[in-house]
Amino acid sequence: MSHSYFSGLNYTLGNEDTSVEIELIKRLKPKKIFSICGSGGRSLPLMHVEAEDITLADLSKEQLMLAELRLATYRSFNHEEFLLFWGYYPYADDNDTSKRKELFQKIKITPETKTFFTNIFNEINYTSLLYLGKWERTFAVFAKACRVLLGLDFDRILRFDNLEDQIKYYKTEFPMKRWKVLIHILGNKTMFNALLYKGDFITKNSPLSHFDYYFQAFERLFTKDLARKSFFLQLCFYGKIKSLAGVPVEASNESFERVHNAKTNVHFLQEDFVGNLAKGDTLYDFLSLSDVPSYFQGDLERDFMQKIKSGLAPGAIIVTRYYLRKSKCDLQGFVDITDSHHKIIELEKVQMYDIRIYQYQP
Ligand SMILES: C[S@@+](CC[C@H](N)C(=O)[O-])C[C@H]1O[C@@H](n2cnc3c(N)ncnc32)[C@H](O)[C@@H]1O
Repeated sequence: MSHSYFSGLNYTLGNEDTSVEIELIKRLKPKKIFSICGSGGRSLPLMHVEAEDITLADLSKEQLMLAELRLATYRSFNHEEFLLFWGYYPYADDNDTSKRKELFQKIKITPETKTFFTNIFNEINYTSLLYLGKWERTFAVFAKACRVLLGLDFDRILRFDNLEDQIKYYKTEFPMKRWKVLIHILGNKTMFNALLYKGDFITKNSPLSHFDYYFQAFERLFTKDLARKSFFLQLCFYGKIKSLAGVPVEASNESFERVHNAKTNVHFLQEDFVGNLAKGDTLYDFLSLSDVPSYFQGDLERDFMQKIKSGLAPGAIIVTRYYLRKSKCDLQGFVDITDSHHKIIELEKVQMYDIRIYQYQP
């Protein structure tokens, strides 16, 4: 099958659990929010009734169009329709195609975005967009390998409803040797480059080996909370989200209602986030930078936090997810307040990131 129409989409569900940011915005009620857009699933749920503006920044036009579509589904559908459109539990990505088509035709988005997604939907026969991104398709490969290597009972770790039993199983019966083989084969730079990043993979500065980095992150997911609650683990084991417990925060009833009811002005910005914030056109009080800084090196890595200061209101909160590479940057004027939020970080459902929370105190 040709992937011509959706090949520009890197993330359609996303690989971040922004419940950390969501808990913070519920407490702090920021009025001006800036977020790396991604699939929109990481960023739109930061909206709330008291937020005046949210800027979604991304270098990728396709990601911004996807977020425009997602926003329209939050605004014009009810929760059931939203779940059906995206194929979230109790619906599935490959069912309800005529209803999905009907919903899509009703939606009001810019003509360019409508044409873009009409072409994609025609190509995929109105199955859901949720698992179509490059990243999501990569994890379908991971899931296949998982099934082959771990065997018949491959998903037992995702079937517990008691954490103590799950930990006991992980420590005593989990097929650890085969799991380690899987991480060795898939959790390395060459594999990620081949499958996903086409040579632009992050230059790691974490002291951990790739194997230890991934192994320890999965171990946290297996021992800190019920594994089945992690949409990321569902993707790793099934290639899809198969249960209500595994539905990510963007689709919860609470998030849906919050975004649905917010009258926040949404600005889509196709621009480098550092360059934009450095211009200082708007002073933001809450920023979610995804793991973009982990891709920085050299002067930009050292200076980006200083450069973005022009776009920050005093007291602004900045959430960054370092992935394999933690920026060695000049943090003058910022206070690291991560430790006061360790509980929400511990329960975050991906665990592949070193989440850091800073406050701007000029
Ligand atoms: C690093 S990726 C991670 C995706 C994200 N984890 C998700 O769940 O959707 C985030 C997004 O940042 C965008 N991006 C990369 N560098 C950027 C930059 N300098 N400014 C703005 N966006 C950028 C990419 O196009 C991508 O869509």
